[in-house]
Amino acid sequence: MPYVVTDNCIRCKYTDCVEVCPVDCFYEGDNMLVIHPDECIDCGVCEPECPAEAIKPDTEPGLEKWLKLNAEYAEKWPNITVRKEPLPEAAEFDGVANKLEAHFSPEPGTGD
Ligand code: SF4
Ligand code: F3S
Repeated sequence: MPYVVTDNCIRCKYTDCVEVCPVDCFYEGDNMLVIHPDECIDCGVCEPECPAEAIKPDTEPGLEKWLKLNAEYAEKWPNITVRKEPLPEAAEFDGVANKLEAHFSPEPGTGD
């Protein structure tokens, strides 16, 4: 039962979450991060660190598609363990609805 990164990370990518993860299981896409569900130990410390409130336990209803997306892209994107500057448009995009449909990028980020 891992934690998952959800819609509001897209085009914000604050990256505060990566600093606190004890098992370094965040992976970086071009405009969001994901959590590797097989590596996450369900500790929950990242959830309150996200300014965009994008991290949720997968026990919440309706998160199946996000668990799938996290699992798929954690295998494709590079590991990130050190905080970097949020995306320049982060404040503007914080809270925008339906970012997955309109703004998700499958391209990898640069990682650490
Ligand atoms: Fe890392 Fe814990 Fe967050 Fe899982 S719940 S991603 S182990 S900080
Ligand atoms: Fe994304 Fe929140 Fe981390 S916006 S990069 S899940 S701090």
